[in-house]
Amino acid sequence: MASKWERVAFFGLLLLGAFHSTIASALPNITTSGRQRISLNNEWRFRRTEKNVDNLLYDYRSDNSNLNTTGAEVLKPYILPSANDFITDPAARHTRPDGGPRSNVSFTGEGFDDSKWESVTLPHDWAIKGPFYVGDSVPVTGGMGRLPVQGVGWYRRKLDVSSSDRGKILYLDIDGAQSYAMVWLNGHLVGGWPYGYASFRLNLTPYVKFQGENILAIRVDNPTDSSRWYPGGGIYRNVWLTKVEPIHVSQWGTYVVTDEATLESAKMRMVVQIVNKANSTGTVEVATDIHLLDPESGRAGAKVAQFLRFTRNLTAGSSEATTQAAVIQKPLLWGPWTTQKPNMYVAITRLSSNNKVIDTYDTHFGIRTFTYNGDKGLLVNGAPVRIQGVNQHHDLGAIGAAFNLRAAQRQLEILRDLGCNAIRMSHNPPAPELLELTDRMGFLVTDEIFDSWQRNKTKNDFHLIFDDWHEPDLRAFIRRDRNHPSIFAWSIGNEVGEQYTNETGAAVAQMLREIAHEEDPTRPVTASMNYAKPYMPFPQALDILNVNYQGEGIRNAPAYSHLTGIVTPPQYKAFHDTFPEKLLLSSETAAALSTRGTYIFPVVNGTSAPVNNTSGGNSTSRLVSAYELYSADFGSSPDKVFAAQDQNPFVAGEFVWSGFDYIGEPTPYYAARSSYFGIVDLAGFPKDRYYLYQSRWRPEVKLAHILPHWTWPERVGLVTPVHVFSSGDEAELFLNGKSLGRQKKDEYEYRFRWDDVVYQPGELHVATYKDDQPWAEATTQTAGPATRLRITTDRKSIAADGKDLAFAKVEVLDKEGVVVPGADNEVTFEVEGRGQLVATDNGDPRDFTPFPSRTRKAFSGLALGIFRSEEGGRGGLKIKATAEGLEGGEVVVQVE
Ligand SMILES: *[C@@H]1O[C@H](CO)[C@@H](O)[C@H](O)[C@H]1NC(C)=O
Ligand SMILES: *[C@@H]1O[C@H](CO)[C@@H](O)[C@H](O)[C@H]1NC(C)=O
Ligand SMILES: *[C@@H]1O[C@H](CO)[C@@H](O)[C@H](O)[C@H]1NC(C)=O
Ligand SMILES: *[C@@H]1O[C@H](CO)[C@@H](O)[C@H](O)[C@H]1NC(C)=O
Ligand SMILES: *[C@@H]1O[C@H](CO)[C@@H](O)[C@H](O)[C@H]1NC(C)=O
Ligand SMILES: *[C@@H]1O[C@H](CO)[C@@H](O)[C@H](O)[C@H]1NC(C)=O
Ligand SMILES: *[C@@H]1O[C@H](CO)[C@@H](O)[C@H](O)[C@H]1NC(C)=O
Ligand SMILES: *[C@@H]1O[C@H](CO)[C@@H](O)[C@H](O)[C@H]1NC(C)=O
Ligand SMILES: *[C@@H]1O[C@H](CO)[C@@H](O)[C@H](O)[C@H]1NC(C)=O
Repeated sequence: MASKWERVAFFGLLLLGAFHSTIASALPNITTSGRQRISLNNEWRFRRTEKNVDNLLYDYRSDNSNLNTTGAEVLKPYILPSANDFITDPAARHTRPDGGPRSNVSFTGEGFDDSKWESVTLPHDWAIKGPFYVGDSVPVTGGMGRLPVQGVGWYRRKLDVSSSDRGKILYLDIDGAQSYAMVWLNGHLVGGWPYGYASFRLNLTPYVKFQGENILAIRVDNPTDSSRWYPGGGIYRNVWLTKVEPIHVSQWGTYVVTDEATLESAKMRMVVQIVNKANSTGTVEVATDIHLLDPESGRAGAKVAQFLRFTRNLTAGSSEATTQAAVIQKPLLWGPWTTQKPNMYVAITRLSSNNKVIDTYDTHFGIRTFTYNGDKGLLVNGAPVRIQGVNQHHDLGAIGAAFNLRAAQRQLEILRDLGCNAIRMSHNPPAPELLELTDRMGFLVTDEIFDSWQRNKTKNDFHLIFDDWHEPDLRAFIRRDRNHPSIFAWSIGNEVGEQYTNETGAAVAQMLREIAHEEDPTRPVTASMNYAKPYMPFPQALDILNVNYQGEGIRNAPAYSHLTGIVTPPQYKAFHDTFPEKLLLSSETAAALSTRGTYIFPVVNGTSAPVNNTSGGNSTSRLVSAYELYSADFGSSPDKVFAAQDQNPFVAGEFVWSGFDYIGEPTPYYAARSSYFGIVDLAGFPKDRYYLYQSRWRPEVKLAHILPHWTWPERVGLVTPVHVFSSGDEAELFLNGKSLGRQKKDEYEYRFRWDDVVYQPGELHVATYKDDQPWAEATTQTAGPATRLRITTDRKSIAADGKDLAFAKVEVLDKEGVVVPGADNEVTFEVEGRGQLVATDNGDPRDFTPFPSRTRKAFSGLALGIFRSEEGGRGGLKIKATAEGLEGGEVVVQVE
């Protein structure tokens, strides 16, 4: 059945605000007529103290209550006005107190000698270098990743302003700072933004000196107990200085909507909001041309249409939004990569005054329609697309929270090979560049903003500031992101405590939904429900339904019966019966657990079981078996999820928890550093599960994957089950040439399993079939002793831009070239040429060696080195790996 989300063609609201610009080019500085966007990533000085020693604070919190007796100053009244553009009710906007704060911190102005501070380049995550906190009595435990995220960080740099900038408006654009950011220019407190995942803008103009030195100082304050995962610390995204003429397109000031689209023509609508920051009325002519966008270069191609030109008079201080329509003939539609193409366009808006261009603003967008159907799921441009999604946290493994375009792109490439076509940004706004990647690579996105509302999950999480900041944060988030064609839903919350408070909680959901609809009436609003049931008020407040784990049921399978905790029978049917017209989706499934390359015996006889010390896990070694049958207590194996989804075909698909392992939340062993949930480990190496999902999500790929490895000198004569993941429907297994039987997959079965195999060394071979025809084969051999290292990189050449990365995989091999499964040799990386080692990893959630270390033990035979180019450093980058007693390996990457 069709809900109102069946149609996207309503757009009646007055748009108060401004919208979004994406600038996909890799170049840091972008100058178009009338507008300059200058990267401020370089030349910062940085200092962090674990304790608050400057006596400044946004507000009192449980972790800084010691400051009550020290004369500390609460700066919140100066920060709140930064939210005003995102607060609708004029009476609710904030007035800055007269004068400045009484505190006069020397760091904020000129004359302070910061030469002893650390030199850093943004994006910067102060915590990722470690060292890890090990043990129980430490300030940051497993949940937040055991890294030193807490404390107060100061960043200082000069700002280049020239007298020719007089008369311009200068904005500081920060894409993300963790957290409670406050900004000073030349000793004046400008403003700030507390939520660590938000992008925000501050107007520097009133404090700029157009002659002499300008000093920018940014303070961030990162509480302990503020997150359920690793948040990172510091200015971990890009920072820009934007220079514009007084009349210009507002922050995120454009909004492009597809009203209708077929292969013949598309009806588009665009809002342009302009603002006049001058002291007098000005007249401006506004013209917008639509061009194809070349996805690789980010450059505009041929012009295909235009919006009608119009003229506006703007009085001093006013802003105005104008909506216009245009028709594009024979549009190239945007759609997800699995079945469609992610074509993109750019709308180039020019403001002119007296025939001179005074502002140019690019809006990247795609032409597409989404249909949200209770029975058929999601339709893109009229065609059903099954959501084969994963949840992704914001960290990039060993690089941490500091955003890096290549590291993010590599994650998406690995996920695309898997057959994944959708990402849920769990549980916070991503870096803006990540959404440019999902647009360009053709992933669908659920863009999510909050993990908590008024009810806490940790002592110092967003609930502390929800009342003041939920409106500005939500409006800013949607205005920033609403032109991305990849986003098909807004999620206002994940597993929030308000699910448990009936009407009270549902009213909060309703209030947030209304705000989201005001900012973007074209997309449905959802929130993830691990508890709320169809008969409760909470789901009524949502346009589409996202369930976490409840679809397949929680603790409802036989192997979970001994557990305490809420038992939830499968809920897909109940939700669908109650809300037949609402699209129903699993925003989290599985929470399956494993460590790559680890197998623990005996193997459970069943398709899904919780991890414990007698089944699938070992709390001493902190390892979880990779037979891929084990889950968190509240979770399910992939097999159990697949069956539940296949039995309820109206479900639109799933987002697996999780795509990659991430730092923090190391369920079930909180003594570790990083998670066990990933289909891919923290280093980017696929676990066995990868092939189980790939065989389902890419059924056309001829795939057969055998587990476990076959090097078990201590298991000769012992039962060692063999499982095979394949897109085939029949399989025959051979051990040293002898058949162990041919099997057929039954309905709701997703793997082949031979559970009685008695181990003997040699060769396992599987031949699979599909529709009685040979399909795919695989062989696994017993490895001998390790003799050498093989090193390979993800790419042969990288850009000489000081940001691009080469990911080097090291495999420990025997003399036949077979990976030695248990190898944990200590590998040392070296590099010659124009680049540096950034970090190493191995995907082992228990490895407390700091990430920047150049030596790293292999884990289950593999290790990873991450190398960065030097800016301007053309030539060969020779990467070497050595290990004692083994022949080393080397590889050359071209930097160009
Ligand atoms: C960007 O602009 C800044 C300030 O004008 C300058 O220092 C820097 O070299 C520029 N970077 C590039 C790549 O042009
Ligand atoms: C600290 O003092 C402020 C202002 O008097 C008060 O609001 C706050 O509750 C105090 N905090 C603690 C933890 O005592
Ligand atoms: C507007 O007037 C104020 C006060 O006279 C002045 O400080 C400011 O620079 C003016 N703004 C612009 C954009 O000219
Ligand atoms: C702008 O103001 C001028 C002068 O007052 C007037 O002639 C013109 O019609 C106005 N234009 C618009 C679009 O309001
Ligand atoms: C959340 O708040 C409640 C009520 O103030 C408190 O009892 C509980 O300890 C808090 N939970 C966490 C995890 O901070
Ligand atoms: C929510 O409603 C249920 C059913 O009416 C009731 O049993 C429960 O006590 C209510 N919970 C709260 C927190 O009000
Ligand atoms: C471990 O899980 C199994 C089911 O997989 C269960 O039978 C067993 O009782 C559990 N052991 C403990 C110690 O909880
Ligand atoms: C495993 O389960 C199957 C199906 O329920 C049953 O036939 C078989 O006997 C069980 N095997 C063991 C070793 O418990
Ligand atoms: C669990 O791991 C520890 C440490 O590696 C090991 O000593 C122990 O034998 C393991 N326990 C089981 C039941 O295998």
